[in-house]
Amino acid sequence: MKALSKEQIIEALNHDLIAELSAVEMYEAHAKVIPADVIVQGVRAILSVEEGHAQELTKRIEELGGEPALPGGVATIAGRAVGAASAQARTVEMLKLELGEEQQAIKDYSAQIADIVDDEDTVRLLEKHLQDEMEHARWLKAQIPAQEERG
Ligand SMILES: [Fe+2]
Ligand SMILES: [Fe+2]
Repeated sequence: MKALSKEQIIEALNHDLIAELSAVEMYEAHAKVIPADVIVQGVRAILSVEEGHAQELTKRIEELGGEPALPGGVATIAGRAVGAASAQARTVEMLKLELGEEQQAIKDYSAQIADIVDDEDTVRLLEKHLQDEMEHARWLKAQIPAQEERG
């Protein structure tokens, strides 16, 4: 049986937090340049959910006695670079990049939920995030074919 220790849980939550902060930067960059209104609305809605995720992870890490990663810290520079590099890309390329991030988040949250055995509060939080990421992935998957046809 695998069971994450408290230190490993804090480490995993900080990994999630950095990914969420990077996602916020990516969605912000894309919301500024995506031309189609209906897409922008969807991207903004996801963005605000990711901001909530980052806040909740920060709070949980503090409750567990850990040191949460900070927005704009060195750790999220990768997210800014991705956001900047892709800001000029076509809408469909942005959506694919975003779907890739959501797919990774679904895998990470699922693995952590499986491996945390004695911290029900953290598991509940991660289950909620997983549910949100699955909705984001579903929405992105639905947008991509139509955007691809527009070319
Ligand atoms: Fe998220
Ligand atoms: Fe998401």
